[in-house]
Amino acid sequence: MSTDKKKFLSVDDLSDGELHRLFFRARSNGFGNHNKRILVTAFFEASTRTRISFEIAAYRLNMSVSTFDSSSSSMSKGEDLVETIGNLLAMGPDALVVRQSISLDPAVLGHSSSVLINGGDGVNEHPTQALTDCYTLLDRFKTDDLSGKKILIIGDIANSRVAHSNIKLMTRLGAQVVLLSPEPFRLETDLGQSGEIFSFDNADFDTDVIMCLRIQRERIKGAVALSDEEFFHGYGLTLNRLGRFKDSCHILHPGPINFGVEMEQKIAFDPRALIRDQVRNGVLVRMALLDYLLS
Ligand code: NCD
Repeated sequence: MSTDKKKFLSVDDLSDGELHRLFFRARSNGFGNHNKRILVTAFFEASTRTRISFEIAAYRLNMSVSTFDSSSSSMSKGEDLVETIGNLLAMGPDALVVRQSISLDPAVLGHSSSVLINGGDGVNEHPTQALTDCYTLLDRFKTDDLSGKKILIIGDIANSRVAHSNIKLMTRLGAQVVLLSPEPFRLETDLGQSGEIFSFDNADFDTDVIMCLRIQRERIKGAVALSDEEFFHGYGLTLNRLGRFKDSCHILHPGPINFGVEMEQKIAFDPRALIRDQVRNGVLVRMALLDYLLS
């Protein structure tokens, strides 16, 4: 290198010998000895809980974190989503968490030695939220599975990736999952749910858990034939409606919550609500997942 090591402003600043030594060093270093693991979070859709809990989980595991910001990235120069993700992987982070509006086909991303984690892909799945929610229930019930538990999921089930992952995982853990949603939000596929109802009046009041979900208006093309007020009137969880269920019935909501739409605000502060436990447990579960996937 030139005598002033603090500047590299032009290729002219390296002598021929320095240039070849530098290339040799690049080849022999590779990506280093992985003493310090690196997580990249790339969220192309809004997030509060998922991104920050992954980042806190990584810091707690002594990893370094790099947060991708799409607004200041080459996407503003026209680079497309798959190409952007492929480039982030090519830089060799130990793990990459991605949230985006389409389902990702790992085959199109090219070979990578990085662990790829789904932070929510469109309407498809949100697997770490389901792990978090099921862990929260197992922790509360002090059990290893959910057999014999009855779970009622209410809301925009068709468009909720949280619901899709949860129906699969809760069922696998032995729960009976029943869905309650108005016409435009009904699930048209079989993910293992054991039933579907269309009104609170038809609920099994012996249910152990009620999970409320947000209406995913940003995913719905065209006008939704149901206002927030109409949804709350027919499907919103109120203390009054909750009073019809057994006293030990717990309430989950993956967030973000719209009070006065999915639920009355007082519900969130009811001792039966596990909504903040879900957020706290999100860090624990993501720590365990990173630890497992990187070991
Ligand atoms: C959800 C999401 O983004 O999928 N939230 C979350 O990650 N906890 C649910 C939603 O947006 O309604």
